[in-house]
Amino acid sequence: MTKTLNYQTSKTMSYHQIKDFEEYQQVYKRSVDDPEGFWADVAESFTWRKKWDTVLEWNFEEPNVKWFQGAKLNITENCLDRHLKTRGNKLALIWEPNDPKEKFVRYTYRELYERVCQFANVLKKNGAKKGDRICIYMPMIPDLAVAVLACARIGAVHSVVFAGFSASSMADRINDAECSMVITADALNRGTKQIPVKRIVNEALEQCKTVKKVIVVEHLGWAVQMTEGRDVWYHDEVEGVSKECPAEEMDAEDLLFILYTSGSTGKPKGVVHTCAGYMVYAQYSFCNVFQYEESDVYWCTADIGWITGHTYLLYGPLLAGATTVMFEGVPTYPDAGRFWQIVDKFGVSIFYTAPTAIRALMGAGVDHVLSYSLDSLRVLGSVGEPINEEAWHWYHIHIGKERSPVVDTWWQTETGGIMISTLAGVTPMKPSHAGFPLPGVQPILVDSDGNEIKDNEVEGYLCMKFPWPGMIRTTYGDHERCRISYFSTYKGLYFTGDGAKRDKDGLYRIIGRVDDVINVSGHRFGTAEIEEAINHNKNVIESAVVGYPHDVKGQGIYAYVICDKMPENIDNLRSEIIETVVQQIGKIARPDKIQVVSGLPKTRSGKIMRRILRKVAEGDTSNLGDTSTLLDPDIVDEIKEGAL
Ligand code: WTA
Repeated sequence: MTKTLNYQTSKTMSYHQIKDFEEYQQVYKRSVDDPEGFWADVAESFTWRKKWDTVLEWNFEEPNVKWFQGAKLNITENCLDRHLKTRGNKLALIWEPNDPKEKFVRYTYRELYERVCQFANVLKKNGAKKGDRICIYMPMIPDLAVAVLACARIGAVHSVVFAGFSASSMADRINDAECSMVITADALNRGTKQIPVKRIVNEALEQCKTVKKVIVVEHLGWAVQMTEGRDVWYHDEVEGVSKECPAEEMDAEDLLFILYTSGSTGKPKGVVHTCAGYMVYAQYSFCNVFQYEESDVYWCTADIGWITGHTYLLYGPLLAGATTVMFEGVPTYPDAGRFWQIVDKFGVSIFYTAPTAIRALMGAGVDHVLSYSLDSLRVLGSVGEPINEEAWHWYHIHIGKERSPVVDTWWQTETGGIMISTLAGVTPMKPSHAGFPLPGVQPILVDSDGNEIKDNEVEGYLCMKFPWPGMIRTTYGDHERCRISYFSTYKGLYFTGDGAKRDKDGLYRIIGRVDDVINVSGHRFGTAEIEEAINHNKNVIESAVVGYPHDVKGQGIYAYVICDKMPENIDNLRSEIIETVVQQIGKIARPDKIQVVSGLPKTRSGKIMRRILRKVAEGDTSNLGDTSTLLDPDIVDEIKEGAL
C-alpha cells in the first residue's frame, strides 16, 4: 500500500490534482487499499471549523453512510470566505443574459460574498432558520446562485425546482419537503419565450399549506400578484441589510440540499445530500476531471435546477476558486452560434454541456461555428446521457479543433458528482466511452443474479461496491424508498439503474437505463410518472409510455393510450393529452408520439409487456419474441399497424 503517495498540490491551489496516468493508477490503487486514508487526505485542504472524528461509517443494507462524522463546517465558507484573501478581486461569477444585446453581469469573489451574506440576512429576517426547507423556483439569473448559497449560509436546506416544471410538480415537491419558504422571481426569458414564474408559484401555493413566506426577486419588471403578509419583494427587504452574515456551523452529515429526481416508480423522490461529503466530492471531482487551473474561465451550460448545475456550475467551481459562467438563455437564440459567441466573448477555456445540445447544434450546421475562433477552449465535457460517436467526433473536431480532450462524464443526481470519466489529458479518452472510474469510486458490473462479472469485454448492470463521499444519504422523508430503489436489487451494492460495457482495457461505456426511466434530452422521467399525468386527461382510460431513439433528444416519449370512446378528431385529442402532461409535469415531458389503441399487450397476470411496446416504438417489429403468454395476442397486430 502506498502511503508515500505524492500528490501534486499546486502552489497556488490547495487541492489534490492527479497529473499523469501513472499517478492515476497509483492513486486509484491507494483509494481502494486505504479509502479512509485517501479521503482524509483529500479532505485536508478544506476549511473546517472542526475536523472529523471518523472518516467513514457505512453499510449498504439499511443503508447507512456517514462521512467525516464529528466535523463542523459551512460549505459557503469554503466557496467564499476562504478565497477572499487571495481571490477577493477575482471574478467568481459571470452572467450572460438571454438577449445578447443586454448587459452581462460580473461578480468578484468579494461581491458574491457580500451578496450571499445580504440574501442570507434577508432570509433570516423573514424567519428562515437552520434546518428549514426552502424551495427555489427561479430563472437562471445571478440571484438564483446567490439564493442557493444564502440558504447554505444559514443552514437552511435548499430544494431547487427547475423553472420549467409545472405548478403541480412544484406543489408536490414543496409538500413532500414541507418547505416553509419559496424564493422566486416575477418572470423569465428563455429564447423568444417569456414565462410568468410568479404566476406559476401562486398557482402551486394554492395546494401548499406549509409555505409562510415568498421572496420575489424582480427580473423582468412584470406586475405580479403578491399575497399580503406572505409575499415580499427582495429589493424592499434588502434595503439597509448588512453585507456580513456569519455562517451557521453545520455538522458533517447535516442536510445541505434536496433535489427531486425521477425513478421507475411513483412520484419523483427527494435525493438528499449532506454538507461535508458533498463538498469534498464536488471540488475533488471538478478539479480532477476538468484538470482545472487558476486562470481558467469555466462554463457549464446546465440549469441550476438540475444536479449538474448544483455541482458543476455552482459548488464545484466556487469551492475551487474558479470563475464560473452562468447563461440565462438557450443554445439556439438568437441563432445556433450563441454558445460559441459566448465562449469567445468571455474566453471560456473549459466548456461542459449535454449531448442533446451538441446534436441540436450539429444539426444546425457547422457554419454557425466557423465565425468564432474558439481559441480559448482547452477542455470539453459532456454529461447527462450517452454521447453517440457522431456527436462526439463533431464536438472534438469542430469545437475542440482536435486539440481539446473531450471528457464524457457519467454520474447521477444520486452520486452527487462525476463517478466515471476521463480525466482531461490524463487518462485514456475513447469516443462514446466514459472511461475509468475516478479514484475513490469502485464500480462493478453484475449479471441479473447480482454476480460480479470480472473479465473485460463484457456487459452488465452497473453497481458500486463501496461508498464515496458525494453519494445519496436518503430519499427525503422515506428512507425505505431509498433502500428499495438503490440497495435492494443486488445485495450489498448500490445499483445505478444503468447498463454498461467494459472494453478490453477496462474503460466503461454506459449504454443507458435498464429500468423504466426515460432520458429525454438528459432529463430523467419515470414512465409511470408520465402515464399518471396522461391518465389525468378525461378521455384516457389507461396509458403506457416507453422511450424510443430520437436524433436530437437521445430518447423521445412514445405514449400508447386507450380512450373511453374512439375520438372524432385524433389531432385534437393529442393536443389535449399534451396539454394535460404540460400541466401535470411541464413542457419538458411532452410526449413526442401518441398512438390511440384499443388495448395494451398484457400478460394473464395483468402486466404490460413493455418489451413489445418498445420494439414497436423503435420501428423494429420483425421479431417481437414470444407473445403466447399474452391475454389477447391480436392486440399486437393492431398496435403494429397503427404505429407512428
Ligand atoms: C444518464 C445527470 C451516459 C445515466 C448527471 C444516468 C449518462 C442518468 C451520462 C442520471 C453519460 C448521465 N453517459 N449516460 N456521460 N451521464 N447519464 O440524475 O442513465 O439527471 O443514470 O444526472 O443519466 O441522470 P441525472
